[in-house]
Amino acid sequence: VRKALPPYRIKVVEPIPFLTAEERRRALADAGYNPFNLRADQITIDLLSDSGTGATSAAQEAAAALGDESYAGARSWFRFRDEVRDLTGYPRILPVHQGRAGERVLFGSLLKPGQICISNTHFDTTHANVLLAGAEPRDLPCNEAADLDSDEPFKGNIDLAALERTLAGPEGHRVGLVLMTITNNGLGAQPVSMANLAAVRELCRRHRVPFFLDAARFAENAWLVNQREAGYGTWTPRQIATRAFQLADGCVVSLKKDGLAAIGGFIGLRDDELHAACEANLIATEGFSTYGGLAGHDLERLTQGLREVVDPAYLRARAASTERLAELLDDVGVDTVRPAGIHALYLNAGRLLPHLSPREFPGHALGCQLFLDGGIRCAELGSLYLGEMDEHHRLLTPAPFELVRLAIPRRVYTDTHLEYVAAVLADIAKDPEQVSGYRIVSAPPLLRHFKVRLEPL
Ligand code: F0G
Repeated sequence: VRKALPPYRIKVVEPIPFLTAEERRRALADAGYNPFNLRADQITIDLLSDSGTGATSAAQEAAAALGDESYAGARSWFRFRDEVRDLTGYPRILPVHQGRAGERVLFGSLLKPGQICISNTHFDTTHANVLLAGAEPRDLPCNEAADLDSDEPFKGNIDLAALERTLAGPEGHRVGLVLMTITNNGLGAQPVSMANLAAVRELCRRHRVPFFLDAARFAENAWLVNQREAGYGTWTPRQIATRAFQLADGCVVSLKKDGLAAIGGFIGLRDDELHAACEANLIATEGFSTYGGLAGHDLERLTQGLREVVDPAYLRARAASTERLAELLDDVGVDTVRPAGIHALYLNAGRLLPHLSPREFPGHALGCQLFLDGGIRCAELGSLYLGEMDEHHRLLTPAPFELVRLAIPRRVYTDTHLEYVAAVLADIAKDPEQVSGYRIVSAPPLLRHFKVRLEPL
């Protein structure tokens, strides 16, 4: 209890909706059985994303009142820039309205058509933006990541041997970027070790390839390094984060996560030429380079959020809360990807629902059941999202695992809310065979999961 005690109390609250089972059944049918099409006022506990969904602090709202909305050179911009410079050590900072805008601007200037971008795992928008730049995204996760049950501490790492082979091999000259996602959101919220980042830096140096971080959860990665990596136990999360940024040539960051605010992001750079190219693109498409699509009050909330997010007491309590949910689920026989990360838990739906084959989308089925039974919204990370399909939406190659992500918004739900989630899952786990599979009715070609429509079998 001591280590799980959040270092804040709640002073502004928002009511949450409770629908009847029949209302939820109708809502999900109207949504084409896609939780992205549900309305927020139909959802009791929303675990769809930890992005932009956190609660702000009194200090952030007080700072927001000082937001300077000048078109250029606003005071809020200089406060934000100085904070980000201090955190990252990068001399060149460009604000963007969210992470994917940063990806588009950065890749548009850095990647050439035909090049390869290598990552431990690309997030979905990152993958899409690499493709939109005419380049090829390639994931090289470490071998340990394939065992969902092992308690290896850094399953978010890149496979260094595979990276070296690619850089030194016949395709080496095509590699335009190595991008490390910390923490590895696509692979169970697993952290990346400082040793892995240092080794990537060395390989990139040797092969003269730019090395960037996708650092949306830089503070949570830093906390897990502090807890799990030898030699970092006495470092503060902020010192660890700064060290991680220093290892790379630059970064792209969605601040909708560890910025503790609803919107925001930035690109951090050392290279003046790349900065000039990105800045020109930014001004044409995002906004002038002292606001980048953000209001002054957004910049103020972010500046304060970046200070609060590295508080060890906050990170410790948040990590303990996620770990506790994992334990509650373990007690009722629902397996999650081990070890528990911080921003989300990943349910092993394939194992819970063995009566459903990948072409019946067990992860999606479990997600739908969580909504039908408890008004809980979450996201599938299985064959519906990652599987390879033909033009008739028939599954050709299933995803390696059928997972469901329960993302935990920051400072929003209490442990009682999470106990409720565990209770709903416990009931499903008592009689898993009553969960039916799904079939795709229609789907777009890119980023399928956002707009797909399905029906129950
Ligand atoms: N990189 C990572 C690792 C992310 O998790 C996200 C967003 C982005 C980039 C894109 O940032 O949303 O600000 O444009 N992840 C959210 C999620 C959407 O639910 O995991 P964005």
